[in-house]
Amino acid sequence: MSKSRIVVLPDVAAVAEAAAHQFVTAAQKAMAARGRFLVALSGGSTPRALHTRLAQSYHEQVEWPAVHVFWGDERCVPPDHPDSNYRMAQMTLLAYVPIPAGQVYRLRGEDDPPTAALDYEQTLRQTLGADPLDLVFLGMGADMHTASLFPGTAAIHEQERWVVAHHVPKLQSHRLTLTPAVLNLARQIIFLVVGADKVGPLAAVHQSEYNPDERPAQVIQPVSGEVLWLVDRAAAGML
Ligand code: 6PG
Repeated sequence: MSKSRIVVLPDVAAVAEAAAHQFVTAAQKAMAARGRFLVALSGGSTPRALHTRLAQSYHEQVEWPAVHVFWGDERCVPPDHPDSNYRMAQMTLLAYVPIPAGQVYRLRGEDDPPTAALDYEQTLRQTLGADPLDLVFLGMGADMHTASLFPGTAAIHEQERWVVAHHVPKLQSHRLTLTPAVLNLARQIIFLVVGADKVGPLAAVHQSEYNPDERPAQVIQPVSGEVLWLVDRAAAGML
């Protein structure tokens, strides 16, 4: 059973600072042990503050040329589309740190979704080799989805494929997402959850019975890694 802990912080800035510190610590540990750091970024809006903090205040503490960047999910849009998770990361972090372009592994949201998923899975398996992801950042929606594992979707239960493309009825759009099969192999998973709209969902994920079809974030249970929830007071009101 994976270790899971929740840390409640005063506000978004404090969550970003704590997450940035975790990023640097995990990166330095991975570099020392394996000479590279394999990290998957999350989409949505919450990670923006983390990325900015890393770019502004931790630029010197990370050996960026040894960092390999992946994403936990992507919208099926081109990389310059306002909804692109890659674009958000590029604008808030990647433009400011010297990660080699060949080590930024973008989910190709502009391609045919099933093809993009198969291509990314091949890239992920080839790049990771025998190593798991060192660190995965995840968010959680008010419907308790994480990555693009939305309530009621089969991807929640995917144990073979590492990357799938699926149509998400509630969004009326396709999404590309890593599955629990690869996410739960990670050495460390950090959820970043902030805001009053997450009060009920966060409590439900931690206090209600295990039902990943309704509460997909509950499916994140690393085989041997740890899960750290970095949440702000606004989201922790019912914990
Ligand atoms: C995405 C994300 C998604 C996100 C949650 C929370 O592509 O939207 O991967 O899982 O983390 O929806 O989003 P916020 O951080 O904007 O609340």
